[in-house]
Amino acid sequence: MISNSQNNSSETISQDFVLFGSLGDLSLRKLLPSFYHLESAGFLDKSLSIHCVIRDDNETNKFYEKLKESIQNNVNEDDYSGDTFDTLISRINCISLDLTDPSGYKKLKQSIPKNGSVTSYYFALPPSMIELVCDNLNDNGIINKESKIVIEKPIGVDYKSAKDVNDKLAKYFDEEQIYRIDHYLGKETVQNLIALRFANSIFASQWNSKCIEYIEITAAETIGIEGRWGYYDDVGQMIDMVQSHLLQLLCLLAIEPPNELNALNIRYEKEQVLKALTPIKDNIIRAQYVDGKVLGESVPGYLEEDGANTQSETETYICMRAEISNWRWSGTPFYLRTGKRLSEKLTQIIIHFKPDQHFIFDQDQQQLAGNVLIIKLQPTEGISLEVVTKNHGIDKGMRLRKDPLYLDFYKSQKVSRMPGGYEKMLLELLNSEQRMFLTRKEVELSWKWCDQVTKAFENSSQKLCQYRSGSNGPEEAKQMIEKYGHKWYEDR
Ligand code: BG6
Repeated sequence: MISNSQNNSSETISQDFVLFGSLGDLSLRKLLPSFYHLESAGFLDKSLSIHCVIRDDNETNKFYEKLKESIQNNVNEDDYSGDTFDTLISRINCISLDLTDPSGYKKLKQSIPKNGSVTSYYFALPPSMIELVCDNLNDNGIINKESKIVIEKPIGVDYKSAKDVNDKLAKYFDEEQIYRIDHYLGKETVQNLIALRFANSIFASQWNSKCIEYIEITAAETIGIEGRWGYYDDVGQMIDMVQSHLLQLLCLLAIEPPNELNALNIRYEKEQVLKALTPIKDNIIRAQYVDGKVLGESVPGYLEEDGANTQSETETYICMRAEISNWRWSGTPFYLRTGKRLSEKLTQIIIHFKPDQHFIFDQDQQQLAGNVLIIKLQPTEGISLEVVTKNHGIDKGMRLRKDPLYLDFYKSQKVSRMPGGYEKMLLELLNSEQRMFLTRKEVELSWKWCDQVTKAFENSSQKLCQYRSGSNGPEEAKQMIEKYGHKWYEDR
């Protein structure tokens, strides 16, 4: 049972969760292990049933085997308990259904309680299946005004197709029934951006272009496309990572303080940021990885991956200089970069504060002036502020150095594990809390901006660059930022 937070009443409602695509990578690697952690932490009510949809009965055994394997592979040994696993299994019910066969949906209907239960339908499916499944759910009287639907990114492949998907969803669901998920928003350190910005007056007063020189947002991965050639080659890093994940990070860094921390206000403020993003004309670097060594292992180039289209011009790395034309941010560039098969898994935000106008120390130390705030999301979560201090030693005069003031959440909050983004998002969904999910407007505005980035690149004379697997990305990304007198954090 969950409390009905939308009505602010203490009434409780039982829930059903239907997972389409249960044998897919997302379900096995992220969603089901997240349910395990929620179970383990006692966040799931006894009444919750999870219905895992598989294609046919022959897959039932395979599903349970894969489920066990995936929990064992994705849950740390210290966090694993056989009892928790058994409790989770006891609430899982496997339903075989060929999603393309309308007659099969009756079985789904019979499996879900008719009255008094709220059902969430999670589409861990290719986007092309959304309309078909929605039509069938509707035609079989399975959905109602209480149903919730969860849609993964990317929604569409451009503004037009995203609008089509949203129109189709709107045929059957009101906006408040639709949960557009971006798991980055569920990451603890991403949520912490709100606390950092609006609960700390030293940052709140400095958070603008008068005080900030530039901002870097980096999402680097060591993995390649992991057998997802079919999906990935159609989208590339712009759609896979920038269109939602990186733009959401940018939004939370740039929003005005919401009047209240509720879905209406937070999401409204994010829409305002997306509206103010300036169209980009140049300063876009797209690149593809060639073979190399990642974490000591030899890996093939993108065009040599299994099933590759050897003529593909899809980018596996992208970097750009974004600007926000509004009162707070005009004049402060946001450099976004993300790529696959890089030297390390690293998601971080770097805020470079401007130095004071007048420097009273020896001029040869001027490069030390200006504080840097480092917000690390992955692989470890933490915040550090580079502070300039005097070199210790009575013979050192006023020689300066930079040292970090470091906040390690594991130590300061005595936690042994940071919950993954999907855990938080699933919990919010079960509580019918929309705050961390995306609005239709947000998705469409971000597509409008991304479409023009893609067009600007196509219209430019710039070629697709290359970078070695296991490197920090293409040289051109370095040149692009240095042209403005800025440097990536690791190059300073
Ligand atoms: C997904 C992308 O949305 O995010 C993947 O489709 C990417 O390609 C993943 O690897 C990265 O998520 P995280 O949480 O590991 O940074």
